[in-house]
Amino acid sequence: MSFRTPTAGGFVEDVSPGSGALAPRAWYPASDAKSLTLNGDWRLRVSPTADAEDDSFAAPGFDAGGWARVTVPGHWVLQGDGAFGSPIYTNHLYPFPVDPPRVPTENPTGDHLRVFDLPSDWPAASEGGAVLRFDGVESCARVWLNGTEIGGFKGSRLPHEFAVGRLLKPSGNVLAVRVHQWSAGSYLEDQDQWWLPGIFRDVTLLHRPAGCAGDFFTHASYDHVTGQGTLRVDSEVAGRVAVPALDIDVATGTDVTVPVRPWTAETPHLYDGELITPGERVPLRIGFRTVELADGLIKVNGRPILFKGVNRHEWHPERGRALDLETMREDVLLMKRHNLNAVRTSHYPPHPAFLDLCDEYGLWVIDECDLETHGFVEQGWRDNPVDDDRWTPALLDRAARMVERDKNHPSVVVWSLGNEAGTGRGLTAMADWIHARDATRLVHYEGDLDCRDTDVYSRMYASHEEVARIGEGLDGGTHRRRRLPLVLCEYGHAMGNGPGGLADYQELFERFGRLQGGFVWEWIDHGIRDERFGYAYGGDFGEALHDGNFVCDGLVFPDRAPSPGLLEYKKVIEPVTIEGDGADGTVRITNKQDFADLSAFTFTWSYQVDGETVASGGLGVPALAPGASADVKLPSAPDGRGAETGWTVRASLAADTLWAGAGHEVAWGQGTVTARPAPAVTPAGTPAPAGDGTLVLGPGVFDARTGAPRAIGGAEVRGGPRLDVWRAPTDNDDGAPWQSDIRYGPLWRKLGLHRMLHRLDAVEHEEHALTVRTRVAPAARELGLATVYRWTSDGERLALTVTVTPEGDWTVPLPRLGVRFGLDGAAGRVRWFGGGPGEGYPDTKTASRMGRWESTVDDLQTPYVRPQENGARADVRWAEIGGLRVEGDPEFWFTARRWTTEQLDAADHRTDLVPGDTVWVNLDHGQHGIGSQSCGPGPLPTYRLRAERATFSFVFSPAN
Ligand code: GAL
Repeated sequence: MSFRTPTAGGFVEDVSPGSGALAPRAWYPASDAKSLTLNGDWRLRVSPTADAEDDSFAAPGFDAGGWARVTVPGHWVLQGDGAFGSPIYTNHLYPFPVDPPRVPTENPTGDHLRVFDLPSDWPAASEGGAVLRFDGVESCARVWLNGTEIGGFKGSRLPHEFAVGRLLKPSGNVLAVRVHQWSAGSYLEDQDQWWLPGIFRDVTLLHRPAGCAGDFFTHASYDHVTGQGTLRVDSEVAGRVAVPALDIDVATGTDVTVPVRPWTAETPHLYDGELITPGERVPLRIGFRTVELADGLIKVNGRPILFKGVNRHEWHPERGRALDLETMREDVLLMKRHNLNAVRTSHYPPHPAFLDLCDEYGLWVIDECDLETHGFVEQGWRDNPVDDDRWTPALLDRAARMVERDKNHPSVVVWSLGNEAGTGRGLTAMADWIHARDATRLVHYEGDLDCRDTDVYSRMYASHEEVARIGEGLDGGTHRRRRLPLVLCEYGHAMGNGPGGLADYQELFERFGRLQGGFVWEWIDHGIRDERFGYAYGGDFGEALHDGNFVCDGLVFPDRAPSPGLLEYKKVIEPVTIEGDGADGTVRITNKQDFADLSAFTFTWSYQVDGETVASGGLGVPALAPGASADVKLPSAPDGRGAETGWTVRASLAADTLWAGAGHEVAWGQGTVTARPAPAVTPAGTPAPAGDGTLVLGPGVFDARTGAPRAIGGAEVRGGPRLDVWRAPTDNDDGAPWQSDIRYGPLWRKLGLHRMLHRLDAVEHEEHALTVRTRVAPAARELGLATVYRWTSDGERLALTVTVTPEGDWTVPLPRLGVRFGLDGAAGRVRWFGGGPGEGYPDTKTASRMGRWESTVDDLQTPYVRPQENGARADVRWAEIGGLRVEGDPEFWFTARRWTTEQLDAADHRTDLVPGDTVWVNLDHGQHGIGSQSCGPGPLPTYRLRAERATFSFVFSPAN
């Protein structure tokens, strides 16, 4: 005799998409038909298995008074302080045994209940029906209304509607939803993100009057030759289409051609219209534009476009993927204000309102289907659902739900089949279906390297070198692929400090026509707000299997504060570039946009002497066409009188826009007119023993035995300045374990660069100098750095020249090369002349602007969710901190923090960093580049900090 549990097989493990739902259709926010939101306070019961409780809770009269409360939209694991289970983070590993379509017996199940009344003005049953819409439930749901089961569905980030009119009562309606964390659908949803069950998008009841609109498809193309747009709205229910601004009032299904202003991401012109069926008026927002693949390029309205994009997951640090409209708008505003023009909705269709915002504010969208089966890579893609006909109906259902929902958005220019799902017949079926349903857009899927099913060649994390080869058309591939443009659907892995090398990618995108830009990975760190840690990441909830802070790899922090990576990207992709050899008094202005001229921007110039602005004014720049350049003459430069002089030209919005006010800066450039004179100290003083075991040289007091400084001017100095080569490895230094390239972070640690020993070889006094000879080297290795410190003074100031000579076989670059020392913890304020205001490293300092800056030590820190090297200011000429002024020869990297590098290195979360009583200062001659090796290539060779002989100097004096 054998027993089979009631849930084995059954709905949860059924690979089919579900039952009972209506055919997918276009989504629109509100029409004149009544609707009722069912968001809000629901009752919740969480059970450990799918069958722990029967479904009697769905029956009217069930007493759920003892149940917990949960907010819908929401994820139950993010509510109830852990009482309902915890989030799980894995990148690509399934957190359950891979045995499709079976799921574990431990299958957290959330029974949701909501009792509602119809509003008093809700039309009578004789006046039409009603539809119950779920915009997103993870991972599957069975639904009952007033005790009748109306269906079940999978496809977490896709809408599902049910006809419920006949079941509704004026009051006391009982809506019951049983949600399981795991289902057959989970095998199709292995995206790199938290697993977060729940009803996480809106639940709405829609009245459907007799004669209401069904599905409709707005076709609005633009002919760039004639300047005319052609509109046709195909509607399941016949009616009229009105667009007052265009004098259009035609029957559905009719083509009408009129002169229009086209829609582009730069000029998102929308026309308000209406679809009027006998029973409903549906608002339309129409953008005329034509997307095509022509001459091997993605063209919109006849012109090739360049994606300056980002991958966006939906994320809120407290609410997970349950986003409200304001949060979505904040994303769009931040993107627009940082010069982005494109979003890939990695890796699922977003909340539909997000696409309305993209239409309105202007962003190109690659809309991606809710599909990833990455975990099958662990078994060589065996049994991959996308290559198994039994799953194809589910794949087609997902494709249709995306396309039908989102097809009326002008911002959506490309459909994406999904992400990291290998290859297979199911994907081909999806591509065929999409191509047949919507010939007005292109199809993308990165996994299709031969481009059998796709219209663009897409790659992720390709190195600069390979991207250049593709740009030149020397990458081979199938014949079809060779005729297609390249888009990097992911590049520039923004995990922790970085990404590095964005400017170098952009240079390639702009050099080769075949390269149509890319999408930085990714928009936001998915940290979960948590008192213990600041922000929690994988492993912080005790998950057996997890991928740590790989979930924090965004251009904005979890609270949406821009990280330095976003500021760098903003500069790299500016819509207008301002370059020039300042010395000849002209700047070259280039319009880098694809459609708009420069008339939206005003330009100003200013001159700086030693970083201080001494003159400024407006700059007349012609309204250059896209792609055009002009040389514009600057007013003559003021006399630098032996100082460093330079100009800054800025471009800002001439008038208020939807996304930023007039004056918002979009681009800037700087040039040097006269270079900085090197700080010179003419040695005069001689080291003099003071009798108490110290030596005095100018403003410096040294330990006579070790030659180590104790004070400079009035400032006590601790533990240096002495050579320092260690930095707390960044996520990009550490690299991803699967990277085949050399990863320097682990090598540095293996060599012992984090525990260098300083051997004192000699302390020599000469007439005008104190020389300290040392050798700095790690235990157990024969390599080292012979380091000589030579101190001189002119009586007022103290100069230190450091000479470093590598000894032995240095096959790795150094993390950093410079000196470190401590100052009294009271040293809170910093002023400097150099790059700022934010951090910069060799391959992330495009946005570092030369000027005079001020900050506090606390504000110099960049709060990466997992602490790591951060906060260096680049190209610093001088800095003042704690009563000391330091000038560099040459310029240096300046870092100051209230903890040591070792403490920074040991910290796992922000809350591990506790200020001590010393401010630790690093003055670096060199920093190793950042790169993108946490999921991509390391720093390009020119940004590696090679171990080679180096000499650098600093001049210390009391700060004014
Ligand atoms: C890609 C993947 C993304 C993310 C990224 C690394 O392979 O498509 O979802 O995992 O790597 O952060």
